[in-house]
Amino acid sequence: MRAFMLIPLAVCIYEIASLILPLKLPLWGRILSYLILLSGLLKGFLYRRTPLGLDIIEIPYGGALLISIIFNFIIVAFFILLVKDAAFILWKIFLKIKFPGYYASLFAFSIALCTTLYGTYEGLKIPPVVTHEISIKNLGREFDGMKIAMLVDIHADELTNYKAVQKIVDKTNALNPDLILIPGDFVDGSVRARSKDLAPIKNLKAKFGVLGVTGNHEYYFDFQGWLKEIQNLGVNLLNNEKVILTSGDSKLIIAGVPDITGKMMGFTAPDLEKALKEAPEDTPVILMDHRPDAAKENAKHKNIALQVSGHTHGGQMPGIYQLVKRANKGFIRGWYDVDGMKLYVSPGTSQWNGFAFRLFDPSEISLFILRSK
Ligand SMILES: [Fe+2]
Repeated sequence: MRAFMLIPLAVCIYEIASLILPLKLPLWGRILSYLILLSGLLKGFLYRRTPLGLDIIEIPYGGALLISIIFNFIIVAFFILLVKDAAFILWKIFLKIKFPGYYASLFAFSIALCTTLYGTYEGLKIPPVVTHEISIKNLGREFDGMKIAMLVDIHADELTNYKAVQKIVDKTNALNPDLILIPGDFVDGSVRARSKDLAPIKNLKAKFGVLGVTGNHEYYFDFQGWLKEIQNLGVNLLNNEKVILTSGDSKLIIAGVPDITGKMMGFTAPDLEKALKEAPEDTPVILMDHRPDAAKENAKHKNIALQVSGHTHGGQMPGIYQLVKRANKGFIRGWYDVDGMKLYVSPGTSQWNGFAFRLFDPSEISLFILRSK
């Protein structure tokens, strides 16, 4: 058993005791329930190590979806059963009548199943476009009204496959953006297995092109391979670099730093000084940094008008939201003012295969409309 699956295994054992046993199923029903529940743990065995990094074992879409639904049920049912068992303890303390264990478990099962199916659907659906109009200090008049589309945390994989990625690309192109930004987490899996699923991003179209930076997930699966592949798909990956866009007399800088995971794995560390070296004075900067947690540090560079990030997936669901928020220095989704610098944390354009689920946390294709005042 892989060590990181011991926690879900312990959760399964708790769920057998708290959910399945009180339902008083016949023997075959109990055995079938145990097998279905435990099959969700297969998710942890779909990852394997290769000399180039992690890889995901290929299984058909239907199989990957079924395992995801069961795994999601395990997580969701856990939170619901905690509430049920807290109610059981209070019932025992304050009431003298017998706790209706059968009905409580049946109710918990129904709620958990409906929530699981809805949250899985919310994770899978093609995201809506969410428009943000934003004033940028010192923005030249020629850039007033500029449309920047942002996709982040695409996480192309068995569930977010080439069909889903193509739909996201079509929806983005329909916005007729001037520029497209992709600040990281393009993909999960090896280049061999996943390049076809990410391939539709080569169809993205914008006047100033497609710019990106690496996210943490690029480093987990054959980093050098993905670096080449993503650039072959037409994305200019900014590695402590900047691009100066010019329109008439106006200039706008788009800068990008790689994810901090690169530093931890012996690749390039984020270096904002290097990215902004010799940047023209008084030219506004839009910075791509995959994670939001360096925002306070980044805000010390007074030319940065806006930082765009992702990574948090908006917390994915109540109960996990607070943990993710804490792990990202309080930044979770939406707009923040960080010492005068605007920070936008996208909830992500797709979902992550490790927990392919969203509850009251819709994904989005972000569309920024820049204003000079
Ligand atoms: Fe990430």
